[in-house]
Amino acid sequence: MKYIKLRDLEVSRIGLGAMGMSHGYTGAGADESESIRSLHRALELGVTFIDTAEIYGPYENEELLGRALKGRREQVVLATKFGLVSHDGPGPWNLDSSPANVRTAVEGSLKRLGTDHIDLYYQHRVDPNTPIEDTVSALADLVEQGKIGAIGLSEAGPDTIRRANAVHPVTAVQSEYSLWTRGLEERVLPVLRELGIGLVPFSPLGRGFLTGKIRSTDGFAEDDFRHGNPRFTGANFRRNLRIADEVEAVAAQAGATPAQVAIAWLLAQGDDIAPIPGTKRVHRVEENTAADGLELTAEQLAELSSLPPAAGDTHTKAALRMLER
Ligand SMILES: NC(=O)c1ccc[n+]([C@@H]2O[C@H](COP(=O)([O-])OP(=O)(O)OC[C@H]3O[C@@H](n4cnc5c(N)ncnc54)[C@H](OP(=O)(O)O)[C@@H]3O)[C@@H](O)[C@H]2O)c1
Repeated sequence: MKYIKLRDLEVSRIGLGAMGMSHGYTGAGADESESIRSLHRALELGVTFIDTAEIYGPYENEELLGRALKGRREQVVLATKFGLVSHDGPGPWNLDSSPANVRTAVEGSLKRLGTDHIDLYYQHRVDPNTPIEDTVSALADLVEQGKIGAIGLSEAGPDTIRRANAVHPVTAVQSEYSLWTRGLEERVLPVLRELGIGLVPFSPLGRGFLTGKIRSTDGFAEDDFRHGNPRFTGANFRRNLRIADEVEAVAAQAGATPAQVAIAWLLAQGDDIAPIPGTKRVHRVEENTAADGLELTAEQLAELSSLPPAAGDTHTKAALRMLER
């Protein structure tokens, strides 16, 4: 496994997203021991960068990591997020990045994760009711107290990133970025590079779609949140299958799997990028992590970069309003 730096923070350039072990996708929460084995296998393979958030569950995913990482905490660059639970207000799925909420949230995450420090602490979504300067000042205090090591933002827009970074250096921005979601290349990525901020692409496998394993949504559990995602719905879904087919064709040519190709394409976009593919299965941890050794040719990269655009928005209308603020 190769390692890169997100500003000063060294991480394996392929991480592991833990969300789906507890939340969001079909099978979440069904097999805790396989989830824990997956986390341990990732560490054995040199993955150091593990991603969670208090909202996953809510809370269950952090609790799972707390159990899984007992005795292994020092092997991990642990990243979690606040800001989608308003602790003294209306609770989960309500934006709140007020300084008071940041201070409450961090104590809960530390406790659930069973640690005295979080390596990278992200604001999960920008809160239009709290100036970003106030949020980052509260985070800077947590850095000073040693409770967090570094500050991140998720799905923030370029102006917010600049304003945040002016208060305290931002280490990483975590936003959706993959072969079928490339919106940040135009406005966000240049700002990150100008300011020396790393990029952590979430949903690098297109929520599983780019792996070619999802040919229908019939098998999704009722509460799988892809049911509400426009790209997985009706005619859009059927149209998008040609993207999965093209990734599969490149994979066949490269002697790799589509998931590995999707990850290798992201890695080829720069050494300031550390994707966090999500899985709760050991064999897929092994498959995804092996993308570190896959070098795509210039022709293959060009072919992937010119895939047809995806049909449908990346999120529901309500969720879209929270992006790039
Ligand atoms: N900041 C944010 O707002 C935000 C939003 C979403 C996600 N995230 C973070 O990003 C991480 C990754 O994103 P994601 O989980 O949404 O999407 P993803 O990594 O693009 O895809 C995950 C899905 O793909 C499946 N999968 C994984 N590897 C596979 C393989 N090799 N072959 C076939 N299927 C495979 C997984 O199923 P199995 O688990 O069954 O293998 C899961 O359903 C999350 O875990 C979370 O930590 C952050």
